[in-house]
Amino acid sequence: MDHRILGSLLLMASLAAPTAMAQRVPLAQAPGKDMVEAACSSCHSLSYIPMNSRFLSPEVWKAEVTKMRTVFGAPIDDDAANTIIGYLVSQYGAPKKP
Ligand code: HEC
Repeated sequence: MDHRILGSLLLMASLAAPTAMAQRVPLAQAPGKDMVEAACSSCHSLSYIPMNSRFLSPEVWKAEVTKMRTVFGAPIDDDAANTIIGYLVSQYGAPKKP
């Protein structure tokens, strides 16, 4: 292959990479979304939320947020935690088992 073509292909690939890495995870539009995006994206991807939504009942979401705060040190105060849990449970809570 012509080296100039190969070179420009590589350049294009490297320009495209950062955009692909910093992928935005679109969360459901609901009250508390901004807070969740601010509080939950600093350590890991927001994709953890939809990814786990199939398994997490309200109690477990509550425990998750508590774990993020106590075990991992997420700087979230009680008020924020309540808003965040409300959002997660309503938008990403697993359906109740019969
Ligand atoms: C201070 C850093 C930090 C913040 C802030 C944080 N997390 Fe986490 N989170 C972690 C770590 C560390 C893990 C476990 C290791 C991993 O899988 O990356 C984790 C894992 C998870 C998991 C996967 C299940 C599990 O327990 O391992 C979920 C779901 C999750 N976080 C949700 C959240 C939500 C929701 C928020 C916002 C309220 C949040 N995280 C904020 C550090 C954080």
